[in-house]
Amino acid sequence: MRAHEAGWAHAAVSVRGPGWLPQPEDANALVPRLWPATTRKGADGVLSVGGVRVTDLVREHGSPAYVLDEADFRTRARAFRDAFGTPPDVHWDVFYAGKAFLCTTIARWVAEEGLSLDVCTGGELTVAERAGFPMERIGFHGNNKSVGELERAVELGVGRIIVDSFHELERLSRITRSLGRTARVMIRVTAGVEAHTHEYIATAHEDQKFGLSISTGDALDAVRQAHADPGLELLGLHSHIGSQIFDSAGFEVAARRVLALHQQIAEEIGLELPEMDLGGGFGIAYTTQDDPSDAGQLATEMTRIVSDECDSRGIAVPRLSIEPGRAIAGPAMCTVYEVGTVKTVELDGGAVRTYVSVDGGMSDNLRTALYDAEYSCTLASRRSEAPALLSRVVGKHCEAGDIVVMDEFLPGDLAPGDLLAVPGTGAYCWSMASNYNHLLRPPVVAVRDGETRVVVRRETEADLLATDIGPDLNAGSAAER
Ligand code: LLP
Repeated sequence: MRAHEAGWAHAAVSVRGPGWLPQPEDANALVPRLWPATTRKGADGVLSVGGVRVTDLVREHGSPAYVLDEADFRTRARAFRDAFGTPPDVHWDVFYAGKAFLCTTIARWVAEEGLSLDVCTGGELTVAERAGFPMERIGFHGNNKSVGELERAVELGVGRIIVDSFHELERLSRITRSLGRTARVMIRVTAGVEAHTHEYIATAHEDQKFGLSISTGDALDAVRQAHADPGLELLGLHSHIGSQIFDSAGFEVAARRVLALHQQIAEEIGLELPEMDLGGGFGIAYTTQDDPSDAGQLATEMTRIVSDECDSRGIAVPRLSIEPGRAIAGPAMCTVYEVGTVKTVELDGGAVRTYVSVDGGMSDNLRTALYDAEYSCTLASRRSEAPALLSRVVGKHCEAGDIVVMDEFLPGDLAPGDLLAVPGTGAYCWSMASNYNHLLRPPVVAVRDGETRVVVRRETEADLLATDIGPDLNAGSAAER
């Protein structure tokens, strides 16, 4: 992460780029581990995913477009389910975190691959419902669920509601009483862990909005309150320490603290909680700097952490669950853009930087602007023999921070009409997309075995105007009337 108190634009600029980004021998080459599994580059330099050439895909569906590799998504989902389902004595359920990317097609794939689903708003719940997702396999999250959202969740019989505050406990108590139903709940606890990730996506330190603190005793009080409530069936504790985390140390500290509370509850309240959830947050590779663990390694490591801690405490291992979002959806997509302009800017000291503007930007991928996230990209529509230049790929928004890829070596002959592809955009890109500057959200085009299928269509200008009630434009001006 670039650190300068006045922001990235003021940091010292090197034409060599950041230390982790060496000048490539061949700027046409792909780093396969950053791309959806079926991605290839032909001898002509055209990128294909799922057997579909992106040049053909853009001709048919336009640009920009999110390209979703169905085989990659399903394989990752299955790998988590199998790896975490396999350890003999320890059972893990895998909840796909829909906030990373959710549409009805994804909900179907998740159901078909045997995973459960984490939703965090009424909107995500509606998508799951529309897809026919089994309600008993849904976990409902959120630090400020409304009365309406909670009522629907209880009426639909979602598998578990993860309670985040005392207000929510009171709301649920009233709702279950008035509906004459019970709700299965977990208590979201704050383990007091500083996860090694961007400040905005760390969630287990004390000074943030999620969960009930273990250290202040709030978590234990919430457990007592839920246990005493006849409308609530308390399943267990829930901890999520943050997102895009590579190092298991944070999970280990959190698991120890949550298991300590789990044991305290058994001893002081006489309540053996049957379940425990350790959240999501497993990192993926956006650039060559990142070296994530695969599902098998994560399952082995997390099972070891929990088993060792339970053994040393002399307690039984509860039924466990995790909630990966990014690690399943993130690598399964790339975004294809068309280059519109190329500009070379002279910097202090004589260095130059090449700005390549594409037809999307912070409205389809906010992560670079919001978290200083780093991405990579490649020329996707042809092969180039031109020497590579350190380039910055920017969007078309009226904002200087509208950056898609901060630093990448791209062929020096890039020109309008070329296509660029950015890998690792399956998580938190479409789901955080906006209509800033009245841009239209791109479609999500699923590819498989040489076929394309639009699973989320491109927005139209009619969509933009659909919610704009405005004045009656046919009625003439006030002066005329
Ligand atoms: N469980 C809970 C309770 C969560 O809050 C989250 C993510 C997950 C699971 C899934 O985390 P994952 O496995 O996807 O890392 N917009 C940010 C990430 C925000 C994550 C929010 N919660 C980004 O683009 O990096």
